Amino acid sequence: MTETLLRGRILSFHRAPADGEDTDAYTYIEDGALWLRDGMIVRRGDFDEVAKEAAGVPVTDHRPHLLMAGFIDTHIHFPQVQVIASWGAQLLDWLNSYTFPEETRFADEAHAARMATAFMDQLVAHGTTSAVAYCSVHGTSVEAYFAEATRRNMRMLGGKVLMDRNAPDGLRDTPQSGYDDSTALIGKWHGTGRCDYVISPRFAITSTPEQMEMAQALALENPTCHIQTHLSENRDEIAYTLDLYPQARDYLDVYQTYGLLRGNSLLGHAIHLEAREIDALAESGAHPVFCPTSNLFLGSGLFDHGGLSARGITSGIATDVGAGTSYSMLQTLNEGYKVLQLQGQALHPLQAFDWATRGNAEVLGLADRIGTLEEGTEADIVVLNASATGAMALRMERAETLSEELFILQVMGDDRAVEEVYVAGQASKTQGAHSARVAA
Ligand code: GUN
Ligand code: ZN
Repeated sequence: MTETLLRGRILSFHRAPADGEDTDAYTYIEDGALWLRDGMIVRRGDFDEVAKEAAGVPVTDHRPHLLMAGFIDTHIHFPQVQVIASWGAQLLDWLNSYTFPEETRFADEAHAARMATAFMDQLVAHGTTSAVAYCSVHGTSVEAYFAEATRRNMRMLGGKVLMDRNAPDGLRDTPQSGYDDSTALIGKWHGTGRCDYVISPRFAITSTPEQMEMAQALALENPTCHIQTHLSENRDEIAYTLDLYPQARDYLDVYQTYGLLRGNSLLGHAIHLEAREIDALAESGAHPVFCPTSNLFLGSGLFDHGGLSARGITSGIATDVGAGTSYSMLQTLNEGYKVLQLQGQALHPLQAFDWATRGNAEVLGLADRIGTLEEGTEADIVVLNASATGAMALRMERAETLSEELFILQVMGDDRAVEEVYVAGQASKTQGAHSARVAA
């Protein structure tokens, strides 16, 4: 049995705050304790009270820092760790010029293994304890991804992309091999430890109708698997999709026709939507995923969070590395704030931090296990320091409220603001030391 008592300021959300005054939406404890045992949070409360019960349990004192649930990234591309910051292109050219060539390298086991270690080092360094990733078309990339997640005991979701056309040699499967490989990987990894498999048709452009039929079969046979794909990110992408699927009423109709639209579907970007598509999203319970740094970087457009929320649609928020420009969910919230400002929508920091933790967990149907610091949930925790840099410390001198502190973290914070990260109760940022192996 391994036990620790963490001491610090505790913040955990119960539901999405309606506004900045909605103090019932969260628990805040000024001198709090989290009692961790075997990867779980077994007790939470005032430090004095919990410490009495936990006599003899070693204490790690994180005061004056803030303990929150680890961040959750609901859309990221594992084989794009060496694509991030590639210049000058919008979506389709960016894929063809930079991304597809890089992803072909993940057929190689050693490369995939090295990149999986590097990828999860980055996630942890930035305070992200769970992610939903696209792997490459190759089974080897999925094996490397889940093997590394298992080694660290991280709750990770992901799957091999299905793509059988409009991609270079070495980066295509076939309808049959995509189905067979996905089925084998689901059998091996779905629900194994903290891993979950995600059925991942990359997007309509890279799948033939025959492959979409196979994706439909996979979805039907595996109802507990999430489905992830991309939707209406870029105007040229939409036009090309409608050329390839001339019978579709709109872009989303392609996925709808093949049974890929359901409550556990994650639709990256979802920027340029028709009224019918919004109706279909609302009816299905599927989740758009907002990727602000990526949408700005590729010049894709502005995600209408307010409009979708008003229709009862709950969206995730994510980095989308390597079109996204930072692994940091803090920086993602920062850019998200600006994208919404351009549309007259003010995202309050309480709403922002709920979104990157409990909100994203709810989108994944995992809010009973991750995304909060409730007793009985998994001990994935980030320790945040709002005075981590000189500029932040200066600004913090004038901060008087929790909301102000959170907004400083959101606007100015990145991996430097992450003091420590607990993955299933294990201190993993300062004691992880995985990076040394990556350099080798
Ligand atoms: N659409 C299809 N594949 C991708 C990808 O890798 N990144 C982004 N941003 N959009 C996509
Ligand atoms: Zn993406």
